[in-house]
Amino acid sequence: KPLAAQAGVAGTVDAKAGAQSATAPQMTRDNGAPIGSNRNSLTAGDTGPVLLEDTTLIEKLARFDRERVPERVVHARGTGALGIFRATADLSDLTRASLFQPGKETPVFVRFSTVIHPAGSPEGARDPRGFAVKFYTDQGNWDLVGNNLPIFFIRDAIQFPDMIHSLKPSPVTNKQDPNRFFEFFSGTPEATNMLVHVYSNLGTPASYRTMDGNGVHAFKLVDKDGKVTFAKFRWISRQGVRSLKGDAAAKAPASYLTDDLYGAIAAGDFPTWDLMVQTMTAEELAKLPFNPFDDTKEWLDAPFRKIGEMTLNEVPENFFRWTEQSAFAPANLVPGIEASPDRMLQGRLFSYSDTQRYRVGANVMDLPVNRPRVAVVNNYQDGQLDMATGKVDVNYFPSVTQGKTVDPSFAPAPYKIDAIVATAPISKAEPFEQAGQFYRSLKPAEKADLVANLAGDLGVVTSARTRVIMVSYFAQADKDLGTRLAKAVDVPMSEVNRAVSEYQAAVDARYAGRQ
Ligand code: HEM
Repeated sequence: KPLAAQAGVAGTVDAKAGAQSATAPQMTRDNGAPIGSNRNSLTAGDTGPVLLEDTTLIEKLARFDRERVPERVVHARGTGALGIFRATADLSDLTRASLFQPGKETPVFVRFSTVIHPAGSPEGARDPRGFAVKFYTDQGNWDLVGNNLPIFFIRDAIQFPDMIHSLKPSPVTNKQDPNRFFEFFSGTPEATNMLVHVYSNLGTPASYRTMDGNGVHAFKLVDKDGKVTFAKFRWISRQGVRSLKGDAAAKAPASYLTDDLYGAIAAGDFPTWDLMVQTMTAEELAKLPFNPFDDTKEWLDAPFRKIGEMTLNEVPENFFRWTEQSAFAPANLVPGIEASPDRMLQGRLFSYSDTQRYRVGANVMDLPVNRPRVAVVNNYQDGQLDMATGKVDVNYFPSVTQGKTVDPSFAPAPYKIDAIVATAPISKAEPFEQAGQFYRSLKPAEKADLVANLAGDLGVVTSARTRVIMVSYFAQADKDLGTRLAKAVDVPMSEVNRAVSEYQAAVDARYAGRQ
């Protein structure tokens, strides 16, 4: 036996004997052929060059070069876990969705995430947190792709790329810059409600286990007779909601949220959430003082009803195969749950599946994490990495030789539209009211935290115009908030009050101008 191998010296001699037990599996190339050397490249003599004919080396490096797929354009830093959803209520009076029968269990995969920064970034940045749940139901996958906060910054998908550009690092300096995102928000008064939430301590959760989750948009529930009821979903953490204050999250270890979640699961301390639903008929929605399909608003007065429980009990065996390749899409709906006219949701129905066909590939839905637990029957085919099996000649519809069928009762619930087609802002915009209610619901110490957190970022904005307009929005939400913030970021209240008057005078023109 060569001496170096006996001594376990790597990289000098192939150590078939000594280094491995007799039962260790023989290594192979991807074509299954056994590998004879996994430490030394094929060289021309002791000092000669490495040869191109070393197919083992070339294949190993080529596979390594392709280990990364593009990261998600947003929500790149995430953590996944598997678990079980158990329905606790009979919802057949509202929806034909098969998962809502008392006691029925449906497997789930959940991915929590931060929004703005890249895949390897620290988890403590102030950000909304993604809370995406994939239910593998017996009628296909339902993805409830939500956040920890109950509302969103904007109300029309056409603004999403601009908003994300402003929040992402500058294309010049590659640094996130409050000058850029507050300039965007100074033209987006409807973001005020989300901003008071993100800059409260909810923007820095203590743990993924101690966050609530929200579907944010309204959805349609459709029963077996086609009756439509509108609904919003919320996950309530059984662990309670806990957040970090000040810069504690920024100072926390980079993976503190993952460590906490995976540590709890490993210890058998499985986190649990209650799934709640709010429901309203179209007639009830029409009476709300704001647009019910505006995702910058909560349905504050509608009662919540518990419909199930979710427990996370397993860390996936492989981060890339499960968490990175998972593809959540608001378009993944099941019979009995349909999209509402919410303009953001309508845009999201397209965007997620589109980015996933680019990010992972045309056959993204065939990967184990994304594959439904029911048979998939259609004529879609081919594309990169097609792993379908079986002999199929009839790949068209209709066919009498090998028929497939569709049951018309699964078609979307019909609805009537009588409207002018136009690019117009929504009615009943009400940008500030709920932001003020949220501020007034906080305890005195939480109010002080919100003002300090906001002042930390707004205070570095160099444009006095942006600072004044932002403060004027917060002042319209709540006078006390505006006054305290004006002081904290050093803008005179006289200028804030002038901006408020200008805003109120120009509000109609402003909305008209934003079409
Ligand atoms: C991820 C687009 C609004 C929650 C993503 C991704 C895109 C996207 C392209 C990456 C998906 C992937 O690569 O798999 C949009 C657009 C929006 C929007 C165009 C507005 C029109 C929202 C809203 C919420 C939300 C309102 C919360 C209610 C999430 C979550 C993820 C995500 C949780 C991460 C999913 C995962 O863990 O893989 N979004 N988004 N997004 N988005 Fe949105």
